[in-house]
Amino acid sequence: MANDYTAAVITLSDLGARGEREDTSGPALCDMLRGDGWNVVHTAILPDEIEQIKAALIDCADGKKVCLTVTTGGTGFSPRDVTPEATKAVIERECPGIPEAMRAESLRITPRGCLSREAAGIRGETLIVNCPGSEKAARECLGAVLPALKHGVEMLRGWSGNCAGTPEGRKEHHHHGG
Ligand code: MTE
Repeated sequence: MANDYTAAVITLSDLGARGEREDTSGPALCDMLRGDGWNVVHTAILPDEIEQIKAALIDCADGKKVCLTVTTGGTGFSPRDVTPEATKAVIERECPGIPEAMRAESLRITPRGCLSREAAGIRGETLIVNCPGSEKAARECLGAVLPALKHGVEMLRGWSGNCAGTPEGRKEHHHHGG
């Protein structure tokens, strides 16, 4: 049987959770994931409450055992933005390269890219990745790392120990001059 790349998408938004703002970021991330071959098995909209966010992240990892949990929202500087803190509280190993790649890409688009505090890490056999809250920013940030995530899950789950082959888009790095 082919590997099942299961994913959960959790939107963190006080207004969204109260039904006072339509969540377009969560559905946009679901579309992107499905387009890349992921099986989105769970979605939720929660308020910016750290204990609720931690509980949802733990349930996706330990209960639903999804390969990947993507969050959107709560990464900024507002006092209610606590998604990175909830994430760091539940992960066992941090994956700093993922937010580094996101912010590198974001800074090419806007100087405000440095304001998103997203984190990423591993709990059990689940990779957790934070994205910013706006649909535009969330799309840009997930897009920056999505080509690498399946390979990360393959290593995490022991589906592949083979890093051979180069993904499209970043074939070879030629160093000129010197
Ligand atoms: N990253 C990208 N790629 N594109 C954007 O437009 N907006 C920034 C930043 N990162 C942005 C971005 C802004 S204005 C903020 S305040 C932060 O993301 C935090 O977003 P959040 O609080 O909605 O999670």
